[in-house]
Amino acid sequence: MSTLTEIANTLVSNRRGVLAADESIGTMSSRLEGVGVKATDENRRVYRELIVTTPDLAESISGIILADDTMRQKLSDGRSFPDALADMGILAGIKVDTGAKPLAGAPGEKVTEGLDGLRERVAEYVSLGATFAKWRAVITISKGQPTERAVRANVHALARYAGLCQEGGLVPIVEPEVLMDGDHSLAQCQQVTRAVLRTLFDELDLMQVKLDGIVLKPNMVVAGKDCPEQPGVEEVAQTTVDTLRDTVPSSVPGIAFLSGGQSPETATRHLGAMQNCGELPWELTYSFGRALVGPALETWRGEEGKWKDAQRALSVRAVANAAAR
Ligand code: 13P
Repeated sequence: MSTLTEIANTLVSNRRGVLAADESIGTMSSRLEGVGVKATDENRRVYRELIVTTPDLAESISGIILADDTMRQKLSDGRSFPDALADMGILAGIKVDTGAKPLAGAPGEKVTEGLDGLRERVAEYVSLGATFAKWRAVITISKGQPTERAVRANVHALARYAGLCQEGGLVPIVEPEVLMDGDHSLAQCQQVTRAVLRTLFDELDLMQVKLDGIVLKPNMVVAGKDCPEQPGVEEVAQTTVDTLRDTVPSSVPGIAFLSGGQSPETATRHLGAMQNCGELPWELTYSFGRALVGPALETWRGEEGKWKDAQRALSVRAVANAAAR
């Protein structure tokens, strides 16, 4: 059995990255309906089968994050999803948080839930074939936000989640996402991302989380999507790398970005430009959801005859991201 450090290194090295296919039932249902596909258990299963059976995916994808329902479903050939991934040389991950809920005392802000019973759930996911996990915290930038209480509540939960995963044998992907929603500037995003990451690493230290056995999944430092002044690719890349250098210890093996609502091409360009920002102490890679699978879903639209084209659309993004890094 591989150690946590070996698994973390496998996830981020050899020019590969992680694919996030762990949309909750609610989110996946609205994405399917958005392309005219009925949101049923079976259609969610079929769509996930399309994703994981994409030819040669293992050349650019090291791990796929699954949702609880997919973890328990089977491919049409009868294999479980984790078994099929293992056959392809791809690690199976599991999203273990239960979603972001309104935080008491902080109107408009959320805290991610899912700690109750997590030790037992981790044990079950290990028995089903998972080797890593994911927990996403969301931080909003707005007037007076984020509040310190929202930041601290979220990083506390992330650190307790990470500790429980490591205790049970899963590598935690630690995802504090500063959202792109709003009209904030690049500088504001940098300031908030820096503060969140500093607080996060203090809390991980307090909870005795081993940093060489995690993967950090942050946002890129970008301007809010409604900000009238949008920075160029090089500026986003340099600002993101500067922020991470200021905050992320070198014992973390790798940083795998979320795409957060950037277009697939923009996310790839930013990732590529970051590789030219000088010597880095960690691997910098991708753990995109929408920026990897979005074009495939748009192409497929539930049509049997579009299956192969949709897989090609995913392949194009996966190969482009592997090349970018
Ligand atoms: P996006 O790349 O679509 O932001 O998704 C990544 C993810 O895993 C969100 O939790």
